[in-house]
Amino acid sequence: MDAFDAIERNNLSFHLTPITIRDLFYLDKCPCDIYGHYNGRFKIMLEDGMKLLPVSLKKLIDDDQVHLFIYENALKSLIKKQQDNLVHSSRSMSIGNLKENAIKLLNLLTLNMNYLYQFPYNDEYLKLQYQSIKVLGNFLINNLEMHKTLYQDYIKQKHYYIFSQPMLSSLFLVGVLKASKIYSEREIENLFVTSYFKDIGMSSIPSEKFQIDLLDDDDKFLLSSHAEQSVKILQGRLSLTSNYFKIIEHHHAYSAMGRGLIDNSIEDSEFIIGFETMIVSIMDIIAAMISERPYRTETKLFDALELIKFIIADQHPREFKIIVYYFKKFF
Ligand SMILES: [Fe+2]
Repeated sequence: MDAFDAIERNNLSFHLTPITIRDLFYLDKCPCDIYGHYNGRFKIMLEDGMKLLPVSLKKLIDDDQVHLFIYENALKSLIKKQQDNLVHSSRSMSIGNLKENAIKLLNLLTLNMNYLYQFPYNDEYLKLQYQSIKVLGNFLINNLEMHKTLYQDYIKQKHYYIFSQPMLSSLFLVGVLKASKIYSEREIENLFVTSYFKDIGMSSIPSEKFQIDLLDDDDKFLLSSHAEQSVKILQGRLSLTSNYFKIIEHHHAYSAMGRGLIDNSIEDSEFIIGFETMIVSIMDIIAAMISERPYRTETKLFDALELIKFIIADQHPREFKIIVYYFKKFF
């Protein structure tokens, strides 16, 4: 019996793939058997076809069963169900409660970003994410008063930071660009989309390794070159002009300056990286600094703005003032 158990266990572990409990949010029914790892063995926690009630998910969370498993061949159908949810959510934004719709869209986009990172060259996944993020961009551009509530709710969801970082930095970006009053809605939408997809090159590193100390030299190289990787993945597949791809390519130029890693003057670099790249990069830095990471606590907004002052205030005093004004008002 023990030998049989061991064989069965091995067989399961070879064919199971990890998901998290988040992958089950917004589903009515269990799309397949869901396994947990319990007392050293895999055990079915939720059966295929059973109704997914909030109470069933809460019980799993209370029992610390948030890391779950499904058969590999069921993953695509789970993804399809969450993609259908995303399609429905982005198409019905204006029906019913706007705030709840927007919160749902943010969460579904983040969930589906995870799937896109797993399959970055899948055209359908990319197209869906692109169309849905444009819907959100439009919504954010026209509903500035809702940004803070959306931000607060989103933070509470505790999404994995690899997938929440582009959302947060892009949300701040819309607010600052609107506050600057020099960009058209179309330009803000394009910059929002650009900012949102800028880190997709990180998909070449397994997401569970983003605890820094788990990265080996190859991963560190991939991480340092993720901006170029993002361009490679996206070029020819998103309807953005080459200027926006330049922004993606150089979106870490200012964080490198902040860390003192490059010593060329901002004026020299600006010729290459441009003004919009600066705003995208600075929002990325602020969003990252004021957010908690598994390996560090968050930085105070004041300290983040002090760093930004050091990086841009001399060259861009007006923009620096807009950024400070925006964040002080926001928080
Ligand atoms: Fe990045």
